Amino acid sequence: MAGTVRITDVSPRDGLQNEEGAIATSEKVRLVKLLCAADVDEVEVSSFVSSRWVPQLGDAAEVFAALADDASLRERRPVFSALVPNEKGMNAALEVNQRAARRLLDKVSVFTAASETFSRRNTNASIDETVERFRPVVAAGRRHGLAVRAYISCAIACPFEGPVQPAAVARVVEKLATLRDQGDIAEIDLGDTIGAGTPESIRAMLDAVLTTAAAHLPSAAITLHLHDTFGRAASCVVEALTMGIRSFDGAAGGLGGCPYASTSTAKAPGNIATELLVSTIRDAGFTTTVSGERLAEAGSFARSLKTS
Ligand code: HMG
Ligand code: MG
Repeated sequence: MAGTVRITDVSPRDGLQNEEGAIATSEKVRLVKLLCAADVDEVEVSSFVSSRWVPQLGDAAEVFAALADDASLRERRPVFSALVPNEKGMNAALEVNQRAARRLLDKVSVFTAASETFSRRNTNASIDETVERFRPVVAAGRRHGLAVRAYISCAIACPFEGPVQPAAVARVVEKLATLRDQGDIAEIDLGDTIGAGTPESIRAMLDAVLTTAAAHLPSAAITLHLHDTFGRAASCVVEALTMGIRSFDGAAGGLGGCPYASTSTAKAPGNIATELLVSTIRDAGFTTTVSGERLAEAGSFARSLKTS
């Protein structure tokens, strides 16, 4: 075997943020528990963003409260993470552990983009402004012992600006490195937000990022977050594996996409299904901790939640 690959399932966050209809909190909790049973390494549980911007995830605190009540999750569970855009979101995230009176949320994910237009549409801020907003988040992460992941969306292309140059992604990595005096960025997550990637463009982007990260954020792990719009995500995974990437995001059932990556005529495409991600990784000779059978159950439940 060529090694173990880390799997983060983002369906409760990236998947459900894109569904138009209401999904009950209890259904979200069930999805998270099914993913725990499938033994993924990490579940991105929800978002502490403005519920005016993403009403679908306005019940993040309630989802975590229900998870806190589940005794079985005290013994063994995946890493739990949540999206946080700014200090206000971080304060809400910190309350999860205060209310649970123990560590339940392990990691927060800040998010910016390699495209200015996308950054403004998604967060009402320029790329530089988003990074400034992360300062107090990263500092609080250090104080409270929470890991910080930093997403860079539009690492291959932007729905508004078109192709994004690898150098533009590398520049964002450099900007993120300016946060080092506040605390650690444990992970950089590269999002092919609209699924435009090919093995060639993924290679070029990773080349630029790996070189820059080695120089500026040497201890950060690199994760790839693919969307499967054109059916090329699996071939991009294989390419990334050959380049040494050992951490990927998927969404059970292929749910998801970013609401601000949608246009007026087309809904943003889904994430690579975690089922496809895991089978691709295994076929390439690597291992994961994931149970295929349990993951299939989570995937079929995730698909049953689709409202649009
Ligand atoms: P804003 O309107 O510029 O914020 O939004 P503001 O600071 O001017 O505040 C406006 C109001 O929002 C205020 O409330 C704040 O208190 C409140 P009011 O006084 O008017 O009642 N507010 C908040 N409420 C709850 N939680 C917060 C928060 N912050 C302010 N954290 C903001 C700026 C960033 C908040 C907004 O743009 C936002 O929430 N954006 C989130 C968008 C989002 O979640 N997009 C999807 C995730 S990104 C993605 O999917 C891509 C990814 O998967 C990677 C990939 O696929 O490539 C990660
Ligand atoms: Mg996404």
